[in-house]
Amino acid sequence: MRKQAILGNWKMQLTLEEARKLILDIKLALANFKGEIDIVVCPSAVHLTTIRYLLPDYISLGGQDLFWKDRGAYTGAISALQLHDAGCKYVILGHSERRREFQEKDEDINKKVIAALKNNLIPVICVGEKEEEKEKGETKGVITTQLEKAIAGLDRESARKIIVAYEPVWAVGTGKPAKGEDVEKVAELIRKIILQKFDQRTKEEVRILYGGSVDAEIIEDFVSQKEIDGALIGNASLSAEVFAGIIKNTIKIKKSY
Ligand code: PGA
Repeated sequence: MRKQAILGNWKMQLTLEEARKLILDIKLALANFKGEIDIVVCPSAVHLTTIRYLLPDYISLGGQDLFWKDRGAYTGAISALQLHDAGCKYVILGHSERRREFQEKDEDINKKVIAALKNNLIPVICVGEKEEEKEKGETKGVITTQLEKAIAGLDRESARKIIVAYEPVWAVGTGKPAKGEDVEKVAELIRKIILQKFDQRTKEEVRILYGGSVDAEIIEDFVSQKEIDGALIGNASLSAEVFAGIIKNTIKIKKSY
């Protein structure tokens, strides 16, 4: 059975002091946590090494992006090698904000995925259609293209390690989450693509998350679905209480499921 995962993406929202306070508050709020699911926080790169030493052993660290070269003259860039060295186990790749604000292309994301896996990071590959694409009925095509390009060239063994986060662009940061049953259909599509490219085992092992305006109540709508294995949380991960609520509800639902 796949282990559920809840990731908090802190984006560029916090000062170091705020990030320190948040992780300490999360620790307090999760005092009774027993490792039932994977928990990951993704602070700004400049805060990683401080947050790393404040983390309890049941919370892992993730990066928010990387550049695909390991080292070299690339001013301002951060490599997979450096993220791993800073204590990261995961890295978010292809987030819609990176695609929109930094013109990231599917081909770039593929290079990043390969670099992450080479450096023992678990890539959390974000895919999702824009509002106008949804209205034109293009969701399936968009997800298929984004995913196939992002995982091009992977072998089965590497593919089994990836996480795919379905984040419809219109749901990210808008307060308008998608519906669980619609996300379940996209998750089925994602598994079908994985099966076609790899094999049955890979299809069953890859974890699929939902992201986009998740809070402590709506999480139930997603994790009660068979093919959804957790969530990638933006705004709601900035409140220790809400983030812990999402984690507790995920554990509760999957237990009763
Ligand atoms: P949100 O962001 O939860 O604020 O909608 C999700 C994300 O960007 O991953």
